[in-house]
Amino acid sequence: ALPERVTIYEVGPRDGLQNESGIVPVDAKVAFIHDLMAAGLPVVEATSFVHPKWVPQLADAGEVVARLPMDGAVPLPVLVPNERGLDRALEAGVRHIAIFASATETFARKNLNSSVEDQFAMFAPVVARALDAGVDVRAYVSMCFGDPWEGPVDPAQVVRVGSRLLDLGATQLSIGDTIGVGTAAHVARLVAEFAAAGVAPDLLAMHFHDTYGQALANALAALRCGITTFDASAGGLGGCPYAESATGNLATEDLVWMLNGLGIEHGVDLPALVRASVTMAQVLGRESPSAVVRALA
Ligand code: HMG
Ligand code: MG
Repeated sequence: ALPERVTIYEVGPRDGLQNESGIVPVDAKVAFIHDLMAAGLPVVEATSFVHPKWVPQLADAGEVVARLPMDGAVPLPVLVPNERGLDRALEAGVRHIAIFASATETFARKNLNSSVEDQFAMFAPVVARALDAGVDVRAYVSMCFGDPWEGPVDPAQVVRVGSRLLDLGATQLSIGDTIGVGTAAHVARLVAEFAAAGVAPDLLAMHFHDTYGQALANALAALRCGITTFDASAGGLGGCPYAESATGNLATEDLVWMLNGLGIEHGVDLPALVRASVTMAQVLGRESPSAVVRALA
């Protein structure tokens, strides 16, 4: 049976805008986030407190957060890789953070300048200090299906990395198909491997990129496995600057259209969401890659 209700974790302002070649003005970012909240998204990932030279697109994180209701009803998490990032986030009044780990050695090196083993030492004090400060911690695992340099990724390796992040104190694991190579049977296998290791589907979120056009099929496969949290990006923006083959995330509109058809509750107002994506597409100067946005706009 499919779940009756799901949570859509919106990543457009972060995963989407981190990958733009141009830098979107602070005003447009803040307006986009407000539009997404107004469209009923229950959580909107706002930005990243990463090294500004590594991701110049989000170097304005402090300015963006200063103009958002960080204590409001809608959580506005930010990415934080290390203690320096946590200091900046706490100073800005952030209440929800997300750490981001790699399942593979090559991507750990390229994205975090770390190894798979050393990333845990980087995250441990971040999680401990955040929880002490009453700040909630989600953890991403990237390259859970395939890696552009290493090829297919062993589910056992993903479960090992994910379990250690939960052991550190993260309250949710987001399973990233960073380069969008996964397919439906692979999704089911990974969820089953987590369950066999004692990690129930309600601790997992799925984070699909749509590079190979599989994101929506993979989301349906995950729904059938009992997953109830889905990351998605308004208008299908997205990608990772440190994984060149990554394209946009599963478009939030495409996910909402499917959930509507399945009668699964999500709380999002689709026309309002499409308007938010069209406004951002105008700022970016190109059409949204989302099929549903193009159909409805
Ligand atoms: P590093 O160069 O090894 O950093 O980068 P370091 O610890 O050696 O520090 C070097 C200098 O940077 C120091 O300054 C630090 O203070 C400063 P100095 O003493 O030389 O003057 N520094 C910072 N400044 C501001 N904010 C910080 C920060 N950290 C250090 N947070 C680091 C290591 C992790 C910082 C770097 O690799 C980094 O920022 N990586 C982030 C890359 C990124 O954002 N990638 C995209 C997000 S992940 C993603 O998209 C995948 C996801 O969507 C899921 C999926 O799809 O799979 C989540
Ligand atoms: Mg991503």
